[in-house]
Formats: sequence, structure tokens, C-alpha cells
Amino acid sequence: MRVLGIETSCDETAAAVVESDETGAWRARSSVVASQVAIHREWGGVVPELAARQHLRDICGVVEQSLADADVRWDDIDAIAVTQGPGLVGSLLVGVSFAKAVGAARGIPVLPVHHLAGHIESLALHNGELPYPAIVLVVSGGHTSLYHLPARGVYLLAGRTRDDAAGEAYDKVAKLVGLGYPGGPIVDRRARAGNPHAIAFPVPKLTHDDRNIGPETHLPAGFAQALKRRADFSFSGLKTAVRRHVELATDHGARPLTDAEIDDICASFQRVVIQTLLDRTFRAAEWFDARAIGIAGGVAANSGLRAGAEARGAAVGLPVFVPSVALATDNAAMIAAAGLRRWEAGVRGSALDFNADASLVLQPRG
Ligand code: KG4
Ligand code: ZN
Repeated sequence: MRVLGIETSCDETAAAVVESDETGAWRARSSVVASQVAIHREWGGVVPELAARQHLRDICGVVEQSLADADVRWDDIDAIAVTQGPGLVGSLLVGVSFAKAVGAARGIPVLPVHHLAGHIESLALHNGELPYPAIVLVVSGGHTSLYHLPARGVYLLAGRTRDDAAGEAYDKVAKLVGLGYPGGPIVDRRARAGNPHAIAFPVPKLTHDDRNIGPETHLPAGFAQALKRRADFSFSGLKTAVRRHVELATDHGARPLTDAEIDDICASFQRVVIQTLLDRTFRAAEWFDARAIGIAGGVAANSGLRAGAEARGAAVGLPVFVPSVALATDNAAMIAAAGLRRWEAGVRGSALDFNADASLVLQPRG
């Protein structure tokens, strides 16, 4: 079984060929990513209209390259998996339209997949099948969500951010202290040189009743009670604390931050982000009797988060799974893997009237 994955939800145009062998194991034969970072850097963030136009320019070449790298032709492709959402609708439309057109022209079934199912399945693609039940933290520029996977291919939302995503907070903090875009990798690097205890930024805690949990959240016995004490993630307060610290430290912009001060801000901010993410993830793992923890999404590339998760996992005897750095940030191999997961579950393609959906909700079966 060979699946072509296509991903255009944000600012990377990506295509990949992933196959499953007789034993059901997955292997990426190719993974091509055309990043638009250089285009958006000038604006300090992704400009949706520019992103959509660049996807249009790149999509044909990226797909052809993914077939060539995999040493396959269209006849060798059994299904096309494409990100249906969530994301920027103009960007999503390019991938969705491309997938439908090739699917119709060549008679290849098309499997629409959810972007976060892709991030989650990057774990099984990189590590092999996880032990279930598992708790997976998806932490990226657009999302910070916890999923409970009672079995392979079943995704139950257990918690999510109330405001900013963790990656977004990284990008904003980088901007506040005058570092480049995207900020995550730069803050990660600078944090290694700084003192993580230099500044006592507040650790976000939501202590009021959760009135906003949403019908799509699946709670086991005892979880709702526990949520009353400690609910979803929140990163906007931490971001504001960093802004206030920078204002005071620079006398409201009267003097620049020194390199050492920037290192300390990055290290202290990162310490709080990692503690917040891991406290909640490991607590959820207890509640759900998880046999494994997974961390996926762009921020899973963070060296401090990886090291912290592994240390905590070792301390409580829980294996921690992360993707490779290339599979952590947006790519199409993970989308092909999510397509393979749907195929395994018996889905044999969609009618071609499905549409890109900017706010698609991940259903329990993908
Ligand atoms: O998954 P992704 O490529 O795109 C989304 O689906 O959002 O994640 C991109 C996010 C950006 O916010 C970027 O700053 C962050 O992941 N990121 C990192 C690191 N590498 C990428 N954040 C912290 N540390 C990193 N090493
Ligand atoms: Zn993503």
C-alpha cells in the first residue's frame, strides 16, 4: 500500500510517499518540504494571501519531486491523503484542489485527513506502533492540545489551550526580545546559554471551574472533577509577563537588552513553558492509565522539551515518544501516515465534493 501525502495548511508546501509493508509497518520513501519562511520573515509572520499564491507556484514541482525521490510513478500510488484542515483556507484549498484533480484524472482514491491526526501519526511513522492507551501532546504554532488514544487511530480530545498555542508564544517572545522569525528554534538555542531561574515568570494555572470545555472533549470518570482544579493550557498571560519584564528591563525601550539578558529571558520563559506542558501531560497520563506518552508538532523539536519529557518519563517508568525533528514540523509524510491509518480502518476514499475546512474538528476516528 503506497500513499502520496499532500500538506499545504500553512506556510510549507509538502508532498511525501509513505508505504506500508506486509507486516503493516510504515516507511517514508520520500518527504519533500518547500518552506516559505524566507517570504514571510519580512512580515514577521505568515501572510495568508502570499502563502496561498506560493503554494500554487510550488505544488506541482514538490509533488513531482516526491515521486522522483521515492522512485515511483503515478501508477504506483494507491491513494492520496491530503490535509483538509484546520489551517489557512486559501492555503488548504491549493492542496485539496490538487489532490481532487489528480484523484479524478487518474482514478486514485482521495483520503481527506485532519492536520493534527497527521502530527499524531508522525509518532508511529518514526517510532513504530505506540503502546496504547497513550497520551499525545500536540504542540505547534497553531495548536496545543492533549489527546487520549485508547487504541490506534482513535483520537479523544482531553484538553487544549484557552488562548495562544505554545509555538505562537515562542514566536511572540522572540519578537519581543528582538530575535528573528520563526522564533521557536532561536529561543530554544538562546535558552541553552541562559539561566532558567533568572526570572520567576508565573506558571499559568487555571483554577476556576471549566465552563468552556466544549462538547468534543471526552472525559473519563474523575477527570471533570480534576479539571475544576487544573484545567486547560494558557500561554497569553506568560507572554504578557515577558512583555512587562522587557519593558521594565529596558526602561520602556530606552536601552537595548544585552545578549545575556536575552539568554536569561529565553531560558526562563522556556522553563515555564516546558513545566506547564509536561505537568499537564503527565497528569493526564495518570488519569488515563496511559502506557506511553507522545509529543508531536513543531514545538516537539524543542531540545529542552524533549530532554524534560524523557527525564520525567524515566522517573515514572513511562516511555516517551517523539518524532524526528524533520517529522515534528509540518511535512507531508505525517499526512500520508494519517491516510494509511484511515485506510487500515477501512476507509477507501472520499466523494470528491469534500472541501477545505479552516476550522475542521478532529473526530474520534480521524
Ligand atoms: O507544526 P508546525 O510546523 O506548524 C503548525 O502546525 O503550527 O509548528 C511550527 C511552530 C512555530 O511556532 C515554531 O516557532 C515552533 O513550531 N518551533 C519550535 C521549535 N522548532 C519549531 N518551538 C520551540 N523550539 C523549537 N526548537
Ligand atoms: Zn502543524
